Amino acid sequence: RPYIVIMAGGIGSRFWPYSRNNRPKQFLDILGTGRTLLQMTYDRFARISDKSHFFVVTNSKYEDLVKEQLPEIPENQILTEPLRRNTATCIAYASYRILNKNPKAKIIVTPADHLIVQEDNFFKTMEIAIAAADIEDRLITLGIRPNRPETGYGYIQYISNQGNPVKKVKTFTEKPNSKLAKTFIESGDFVWNSGMFVWKVRSIIRAFEKYMPDVSEVFEEGGDHFTRESEEAFIKKAYSLVKNISIDYGIMEKADEVFVVLGDFGWSDLGSWSSLHEVHEKDSENNVIEANALLYDTKNCYIKVSPQKLVVVEGLDNYLINETENVLIVCKLDGDKKFREFVNAAKAKG
Ligand code: GDD
Ligand code: MG
Repeated sequence: RPYIVIMAGGIGSRFWPYSRNNRPKQFLDILGTGRTLLQMTYDRFARISDKSHFFVVTNSKYEDLVKEQLPEIPENQILTEPLRRNTATCIAYASYRILNKNPKAKIIVTPADHLIVQEDNFFKTMEIAIAAADIEDRLITLGIRPNRPETGYGYIQYISNQGNPVKKVKTFTEKPNSKLAKTFIESGDFVWNSGMFVWKVRSIIRAFEKYMPDVSEVFEEGGDHFTRESEEAFIKKAYSLVKNISIDYGIMEKADEVFVVLGDFGWSDLGSWSSLHEVHEKDSENNVIEANALLYDTKNCYIKVSPQKLVVVEGLDNYLINETENVLIVCKLDGDKKFREFVNAAKAKG
């Protein structure tokens, strides 16, 4: 059975103000299914693993949220981080902990905030990836056929090998600028990195030793500390010593033995309001309405307002209207790039 590492420590600023700092999107029932994205991630992987094999890595300020939302997972499998040090550190922490438990383990690393619609197809792809990870040192990622020059993703160019679904990665480019992203899309040779990875624990540890020795040195000291009593102090120190860098920049862009398995399983990283708009049910004018609303001459909008309030909208195309307790935002629905700016400016205003 594979170990499942759920990365659940991100802050998801592009969903602001719905996703506030104290409750990023993985902890929200963003699709209105009754389960949060974190819970949906757990449910999905519970099909192929066991709760004894799950690890959730999150910031200490979200620890209670994780415990509340996933009471199935034993507390000592919820790994809490004292600081935000990005996904490389998050993966290192979980990997060294698992190495301690089972050096032969195979690990699936997954974000906590993605949507997968076709689970059967997903697990078919996953099965191929799990088998491919058998070979020492191989780092496997799942790739998705792109449909736009998105700059928020990693791009993978692979060496084509007729028929074999496991393809050697030629180049991995994390978050290219828009000019480069356009070139990648036009060339037709590239797929998106889904952000889900499969490898043996020993393969990823060796990759840390090779490409991020500063991280592996720090965590190798962990050995005996991976017991509940001294773990906290050790982790606190370890996190203060390592850099803030993602696994994509730290390892995937540099490593030689990277392979991609292409999949088509209705994937969305729900990274923005417009991606959420894509997956939700729409009215005849292509509006997503989660509100008590009266619309006139309004199309391609996303309206999410508390049902206590009647919203009347006229003449808007491609707008987001979202109201939370203390923020009301009206802005272009596809203006994702602006959100970081909004959040910072709003913070400054207090
Ligand atoms: N525990 C922990 N600690 N989790 C974190 C941290 C951290 O410091 N930072 C991010 N995460 C979690 C997020 O909550 C999310 O579930 C996952 O790790 C990925 O982080 P993101 O910040 O969402 O990454 P991204 O979307 O910008 O880019 C990654 O995903 C893309 C696909 O969605 C990359 O892997 C890209 O290459 C990829 O295309
Ligand atoms: Mg993401």
